[in-house]
Amino acid sequence: MKINVLLSPQNVDDLYFTGKTSVIIDVLRATSVIAKALNSGAKEIIPVGSIDFAMKISSNTHGSQSLLCGERNTKIIEGFNLGNSPEEYTEEKVKGKSIILFTTNGSKSIVKAKFSTNLLTCSFNNLKSVAEHLVKLGEDVEILCAGSNGLFCIEDTVCAGKLISEIQKINTDTEISDAAKASLVLSKEFGGDIPEMLKNCEHGKLLEENGFGIDIEICGILNNINIVPVFDNGSIKSFNTLAVE
Ligand code: MLT
Repeated sequence: MKINVLLSPQNVDDLYFTGKTSVIIDVLRATSVIAKALNSGAKEIIPVGSIDFAMKISSNTHGSQSLLCGERNTKIIEGFNLGNSPEEYTEEKVKGKSIILFTTNGSKSIVKAKFSTNLLTCSFNNLKSVAEHLVKLGEDVEILCAGSNGLFCIEDTVCAGKLISEIQKINTDTEISDAAKASLVLSKEFGGDIPEMLKNCEHGKLLEENGFGIDIEICGILNNINIVPVFDNGSIKSFNTLAVE
């Protein structure tokens, strides 16, 4: 199994993902929110690349069964139902609902990789489940770090490194690219204390300043959610749900 890491979405265009098995990581906070929402029983997550498109889908297609969710500059968008804090995505609020999700980097990165044959999302919360699923698929893997406005960010890269380590625990026959090697090194250096790393990274500091300190703690928990989020036909569902449909 060959594994590559894209350290920022800027490095490639949409067509790069055609036919590939891709994993999107946006630890703070989009892919952590996706894991939490599906774990709370959300029907699906519809990632979108713009607020206008989110509004359009919400009014045209999904009626009262949908929720408009996400953030701009970390904060809830005017007129939206939920922001981008994992703790908001409780069973009471999201069970059975279609979540239309717009975020600054995360949802856009998922949309960017839409031509992938297999497209998953990963966070620290569900990393082990995603690793096991990837090993079962047995395909080469592209891990895309959503980053921050086109730039590198450490939390997504450390998560990518930890995902690779987890894969390597199960499949010893991996061939990793230079960027994957660098991610492994960073995860060894900074991944020992994930909450501390998240508190000290640039986006973590911004979230803390904006009153979202609790999100950093939630996003830093390792393997508390056993969900594999899979993008299929325009929306992300839990692999277990897709398997029985
Ligand atoms: C993003 O997509 O950039 C993040 O999820 C932003 C955030 O929630 O703070």
